[in-house]
Parts: sequence; C-alpha cells; structure tokens
Amino acid sequence: MRAANQIVAGVLQELQTMAAPGVATADLDAAVEARVLAAGATPAFKGYRGYPASLCASINDEVVHGIPSPRELVQGDIVSLDVGVLLEGFYGDSALTVAVGEISDEAETLLRVTEEALELGIAEVRVGSRVSDIGHAVQRHVEAQGLSVVREFVGHGIGSKLHEEPQIPNYGEPGRGPRLAEGMVLAIEPMVNVGKPAVRVLDDGWTAVTRDGSLSAHFEHTVAVTADGPEVLTRRSSDVSAVAAGSAAPAS
Ligand code: MF3
Ligand code: CO
Repeated sequence: MRAANQIVAGVLQELQTMAAPGVATADLDAAVEARVLAAGATPAFKGYRGYPASLCASINDEVVHGIPSPRELVQGDIVSLDVGVLLEGFYGDSALTVAVGEISDEAETLLRVTEEALELGIAEVRVGSRVSDIGHAVQRHVEAQGLSVVREFVGHGIGSKLHEEPQIPNYGEPGRGPRLAEGMVLAIEPMVNVGKPAVRVLDDGWTAVTRDGSLSAHFEHTVAVTADGPEVLTRRSSDVSAVAAGSAAPAS
C-alpha cells in the first residue's frame, strides 16, 4: 500500500505544476494515465462503475467526480484533482485542490481551511480512537471558519478494494463508530463548500456540484493506523503540512 500510494502522491505532485491557465482537464487525465501505467500500476477509477477517466477534475462549484473534458482551466479557477491506482492488488487514493494562477481571497481561505481540516482529521488517527473522532475534528474546524461540510460523500477504508468499510463521514459527534486498530488503512477526504452544504449530481451521472453554486474544495489522503500513530501513505515531498501536523511520512 505504501508503493501504490506513493505512485498517487507523485502523480498529484506533477499535476500541481501542470494545472495552469489554458490546460484542458482532458490533458491532465492523459498525463495521469500515462504516468500511472509507466509506474507499472493501473488507474483505479477508469471503469469503476462505468467512470470514464483516470482522473476526477472538479472545477470551482464542482465538488467531486468531475469528468475530464476539453474545458480549459482559466486564471482564478480552483480545481480538485483526485487520483486512484491499483498496484499488485492494492489501492492508493488521494486528492488535492489547486489554484490556477491568482485566486480570490475567498478561494484561498477555502483551500487552506479544507487542507487544515484534513490534517486535523488525520491527527485523530491512532489505535483505539473512533471513526467519528475524525469527522468531528473536520467539521469543528470547517464550521468555525464559517464554511460547510458536504454530507453526501464520505471517506472510506481502502486496501484490496478501493472502497472498504468503514465509511468515514466528515461530520458528527465524537466517540461513535468502530474503533481504529493497528493495520487499518483509511482514505480521509473532506469536501468543503463556501456556501451551504447541499450538493446535486449533474445529468452526466457523475459530476457533483454545490446546489447554491458556491465554491467547493476537496483534499484526500490515504492513512495507515500504526502503533506510532497515523502514517500518511500519500504524503507528497512538496507537502509542508506533514511537519505542522506531526504525522509521519512513509519510508520509501
Ligand atoms: N477518491 C474518490 C473516492 O474515493 C474517487 C472515486 S471516483 C470513481 O470515492 F470514479 F472511482 F468513482
Ligand atoms: Co477516496
């Protein structure tokens, strides 16, 4: 799982620099597929319940599961980039939201708070804590900043399937749900809206958008529960949050 997830981390790090004005999300998708195959892995999303691409690219009011298209990114956009791979029977899954050129203060705050919420959720991961401790930490931080947490999509266990038990909501009371045990691996993925939490799915059957048209961000890490606390398997070398959150990166 370390190997699968580090392929995902490397791909996302590359996408971070590629996502610029004039680049189509279909071009990013092609880059993801080429890079994943070159690494000896398989894109996990392509063909999953009929999903047509290797990347989910969700722009501005799109929350998750945006389908790559010839639409070009423009200065001021934010775009969530979500990548999954399968390597030797095990899955990796991670997402981040990037700024395309200069973005508004509102968008900057949204990205910062969503990533902070993910790190606060990760900080709850230890042997013996409960699944809902994660979502509680996420929700508390997001709502304290006047933003809202999406309810319709949740994080998940991950391993020899992309989606395993338990579901990991990004909201709720602490102290509920299964206890975390050593060796469990969790994909934690807060989705945060500037406006109200409600979302709807477009006629393409995939793209989730905010009902009120407000901006939305999404960050996701795959995290192992170890005796020493959380091990973030999708940590990027470019990522400075690791130090701030005190969570270990995987040995490579
Ligand atoms: N990271 C998302 C998830 O874990 C992406 C799934 S896209 C799909 O649910 F196409 F595979 F459904
Ligand atoms: Co996921």
